[in-house]
Amino acid sequence: MRPTVRQGQTLRMTDPATDPAQARARLVHGLRAHGCAITPAVVEAFLAVPRHLFLPGIPIREAYADEAVPTQVVDGIATSSASQPSMMAIMLEQLAPAPGHRVLEVGAGTGYNAALLARLVGPAGRVVSVDIDGELVELAARHLAQAGITGVDLRVGDGALGVPDAAPYDRIVLTVGSWDLRPEWVAQLVPGGRLLLPLTVRGSQLSVAFDLRPDGVLESRSVRSCAFIRLRGAGAGPEAVERVGPGWAAQVPEGDTPDLEAVAGLLDEPRKLHRSTGSLDRADVWDGLGLWLMLTVPGALRLLTGDAEDPPGYWLVPTGQGRATVAVTVPGGLAALVTEPAGVRAFGPEGETAVRLLRAGVDAWHAAGRPHAADLRILAVPAGAALPGEGAVVEKELSRLVVAPAPA
Ligand SMILES: C[S@@+](CC[C@H](N)C(=O)[O-])C[C@H]1O[C@@H](n2cnc3c(N)ncnc32)[C@H](O)[C@@H]1O
Repeated sequence: MRPTVRQGQTLRMTDPATDPAQARARLVHGLRAHGCAITPAVVEAFLAVPRHLFLPGIPIREAYADEAVPTQVVDGIATSSASQPSMMAIMLEQLAPAPGHRVLEVGAGTGYNAALLARLVGPAGRVVSVDIDGELVELAARHLAQAGITGVDLRVGDGALGVPDAAPYDRIVLTVGSWDLRPEWVAQLVPGGRLLLPLTVRGSQLSVAFDLRPDGVLESRSVRSCAFIRLRGAGAGPEAVERVGPGWAAQVPEGDTPDLEAVAGLLDEPRKLHRSTGSLDRADVWDGLGLWLMLTVPGALRLLTGDAEDPPGYWLVPTGQGRATVAVTVPGGLAALVTEPAGVRAFGPEGETAVRLLRAGVDAWHAAGRPHAADLRILAVPAGAALPGEGAVVEKELSRLVVAPAPA
């Protein structure tokens, strides 16, 4: 229907559902209000780059919603997506690209983040963005041209190897999850440069901004929780999640090989509930206490189920990816953290032994000031190098990490 306008009447000509500029302004308002985009340069970049041109065919409302938009799906699993804007903003703040910087992005995807980076480094800087998928790179080139963005050097290749011919970089950012820290990335950084990546740490994905110190140690400047698609190719790493039994899966820490068949059997034997953990919320269980237990208690693992409802006696924790909890296993027993009501439930004949271990971990977490992912400091060195500090040690294939609460 055509609008009719009488004299003197003001008509709202734009609608944030269909007007890209309004939708963009609204998105940026939300990013600022939630403290995701803080620095003026990051805010300006989000206002300047038209996200919808990187998502052709997607309604304006969806292109500017604070949600990831899958752009390539293989066998029901997203292999590329335009990341969630709030996570992108958090990561740009962590990365802190400055005018004149040379930046390598691994995971070009739609080209949208590369466009934001190009805006942030300005004409004196350089952005190299690599994707393993040639078709995606072609599309990204088209999107960038349509948005009038120059200064992005797009490459097709396995970003696990970096892009050595354009190195060194002041900043390297992965917009795809990695299981390990690859020496290629460290070798392609300038001294004092920053490497930001979604890194798997004891089953959790953490967005870690590492600075390269003069002694070669990578030291985290900031750590945040995140959830990204994982690297394909040489850096793919082991499976993140293993099936436990009907309806159940587990995230198992690096280096541990628990008997998941035994775990499945124990889950059929729920026993006593101990109501003694104090109040816990979802963030505590996912990236606070849960992460702490995964880091410090031997035999810890995360249990996940896609079921909307808990089986009687379980009471898991709702997360963005279904329902989950953290559990501690011993031979013949398991203890799982539960909410509603909060507590620890024992499973199997040796469940009480596992409960004791889990509760000692809970006490240690409280004593350490209830740290969450953002309160941690991670030091990293190549595998086999001397440990660079004290804390929980996470051994990878190519690197070793030391994780501890950040010094005050
Ligand atoms: C979450 S998407 C990146 C989103 C992108 N930065 C954007 O702004 O649209 C992750 C991307 O990483 C790419 N990828 C996966 N493995 C890769 C690898 N080994 N090297 C380079 N890119 C890879 C995928 O093809 C996918 O496009």
